[in-house]
Amino acid sequence: MSALGTHVAAPYRDAGLPVAERVADLLGRMTLAEKVGQMLLLDAQEGVEHAVEQRHAGAILHASPAHVRAAHEAVTRTRLGIPVLVGEDCIHGHSFEAGATIFPTQLGMAASWSPELLERVARATAVEVAATGVHWTFSPVLCIARDLRWGRVGETFGEDPYLLGELGAAMVRGYQGDGLSDPTAVLATAKHFAGYSETQGGRDASEADISRRKLRSWFLPPFERVVREGTGTVMLGYQSMDGVPVTTNAWLLDGVLRQEWDYPGVLVTDWDNVGRMVWEQRIFPDDVAAAAAAIRAGNDVIMTTPQFFEAAQEAVRTGMADEAGIDRAVARILALKFRMGLFEDPRHPHPDRRRLVGAAPHAQLNLEVARRSLVLLRNDGTLPLAGGCRTVPGGASVAVDPRPRRVLVVGPNADDVHTQLGDWAGASGQVRWLMPDGHPRELTETVVDGLRALAPSAWQVTHARGADILTVGPDPEGETFPDGQPRPPVVHPAPVDQGLLDEAVDAARDADVVVAVVGDRIELVGEGRSTATLELMGGQVALLDALVATGTPVVVVLLASKPLVLPPSALEAAALVWAANPGMRGGRALAEVLLGLVEPSGRLPISFAAHAGQQPTYYNQVRGQHGARYADLTQSPAFAFGEGLSYTTVEYDDLRVVDPQVTATGVVRASVTLRNAGGRPALETVQVYVSDVVTSATWAEQELKAFVQVELAAGEERTVELEVAAADCTIVDGAGHRVVEPGEFELRVGPSSRPQAQVRARFTVTGG
Ligand code: NOJ
Repeated sequence: MSALGTHVAAPYRDAGLPVAERVADLLGRMTLAEKVGQMLLLDAQEGVEHAVEQRHAGAILHASPAHVRAAHEAVTRTRLGIPVLVGEDCIHGHSFEAGATIFPTQLGMAASWSPELLERVARATAVEVAATGVHWTFSPVLCIARDLRWGRVGETFGEDPYLLGELGAAMVRGYQGDGLSDPTAVLATAKHFAGYSETQGGRDASEADISRRKLRSWFLPPFERVVREGTGTVMLGYQSMDGVPVTTNAWLLDGVLRQEWDYPGVLVTDWDNVGRMVWEQRIFPDDVAAAAAAIRAGNDVIMTTPQFFEAAQEAVRTGMADEAGIDRAVARILALKFRMGLFEDPRHPHPDRRRLVGAAPHAQLNLEVARRSLVLLRNDGTLPLAGGCRTVPGGASVAVDPRPRRVLVVGPNADDVHTQLGDWAGASGQVRWLMPDGHPRELTETVVDGLRALAPSAWQVTHARGADILTVGPDPEGETFPDGQPRPPVVHPAPVDQGLLDEAVDAARDADVVVAVVGDRIELVGEGRSTATLELMGGQVALLDALVATGTPVVVVLLASKPLVLPPSALEAAALVWAANPGMRGGRALAEVLLGLVEPSGRLPISFAAHAGQQPTYYNQVRGQHGARYADLTQSPAFAFGEGLSYTTVEYDDLRVVDPQVTATGVVRASVTLRNAGGRPALETVQVYVSDVVTSATWAEQELKAFVQVELAAGEERTVELEVAAADCTIVDGAGHRVVEPGEFELRVGPSSRPQAQVRARFTVTGG
């Protein structure tokens, strides 16, 4: 007889019964230990048999393919046979599955401003993830990135709540496919709820100095959007606000999420949030008190706090926690498992997974999104190289200008696989089984690979390293934090290496053009890896200065997880392109753009500061400060939200509001005329901002409300229709309510948030 014994024919096993009945039946059969176990999300790297069979763990994460198989087998040996949920950080592809498709990071994908593309990326990821027996991805990140020093900026969609909400919703649709019972669906996670990114000094997981009004104004709307889209799970951040760790913030978790938004899904803590309340935040004397508080606040799944298992049971025994709170959490977890059909089909690794993971159509999609992730920030006409190339039958590229060119590709990131893939990918350090090499090398095309493959055959492509970025050493405070987690190593900027520099300069003198690929490295990115500085580290500034001084045109490719502060030699170089960890096909996509085989089309989802001391530089700041400059610097960013160039110029004119009077339930309809004034095609992102002229409480000068992407052939003129619902022209008033305040508004339409680049027209919202 199987371990399931007498439960084989129990009502909870009957797929024909309503989910609520199945949940009630199963819950009634469970011991307190089994219930608390369902709430556990444990690190599979610590062993799965013990987790599933002894602690009754409801979910595991960071499970290698062998762990996944072992966990599913362990379930068959349990009394009730409750399927285990397997979760993973598949943030931009199936991060830790060897050979999976690794897309650009979220910030890179956000530069496409394309919900449609992101939905396809999430769908492709879900197909790969589901094929390997993983049910749940901890993505998308909906944190608003405002302080560029924060180490996790690259995991976000940038700085604008509207863009974040639209892209996040698209990813949720893609992950969850045709609904949770779709065998290729994976559960999405909206994270990190909410305000985690509002760090102090950019420091990770610091107390977030954020009022409820500020949360409602900018930080909560993307989550509300994605809850409406049906995200299966929501994950907390690490922060505390007003002295309350988010894990016990009943106002946020229960009041806003569950009651106001009617969120029916599962709420999961972040890594050891419950333990941290004892050993780090020190607001509880012991694990029992912390467990009781987490249960009371309405958390369902407790991530990687194994001692919660004993502590929660003890809390119930001593009356500190109510078993009904545990029942509510477990009911939500079980409902999710029933809705996914896991009791009928636990979705073991697919026999065909080798064909599905890293499939050719996904690699093609990856190339498409990598192209769209690249943002051209400056160009004096050097790009596209030699006037561009075209592909001839047979696939070779032929230059418009037939003279052979000598291209020097230089810089520490020109041939660096790990930086190209970014955080949460292969060897980025969160899991052990792909260390130290990560994904198979041949799957990633670096910039050197891309240019060598695509440059016309008569061209010469050479490569020099030129500079190093950093070395690492141990943290003097010890190898681990008090909970045993490893501390990130301490970064030491590399000194200028004169030998590397001289070699690069000599090669630059012999070249017709230099492509200098500089940026950051994985050691400067991620959790606990915020940076105090934003400048190019190590020998990189000296390298750029020396290359520019040779007089050979220098095209700077900034391959960096987040916006950095650039030296004059980069800002005034012949051209500048930003590639935020562009993924496996990123080097090829860059080569295509540099050669002019495809047009650059990315737009910044986040502003670039001119100086680290300007933090924060996000565009939608609240009005009412004295002037717009420091005594020694303006506040103007080096590149503003929404900016990005094409190989042509698109002019905006004749913005007309169809009916300048709308009611609060009406729609503002407008049109604008675009003219492609150059000789190459463009994919233009038409950005629609609204400025509320007078507000009852201080508010942002302008906010993005819509965007439309339009393809324009060379010389084409086109009138584009735009729409903004008046109901979206809101502010959060002094009492914390989101309202439309009747009165005058300005519609601002243009290629970016830069006021100088926008055309404007007024409209009035009528009514009381
Ligand atoms: C902690 C991170 O903050 C979160 O984003 C991630 O999903 C979990 N660890 C699991 O790896």
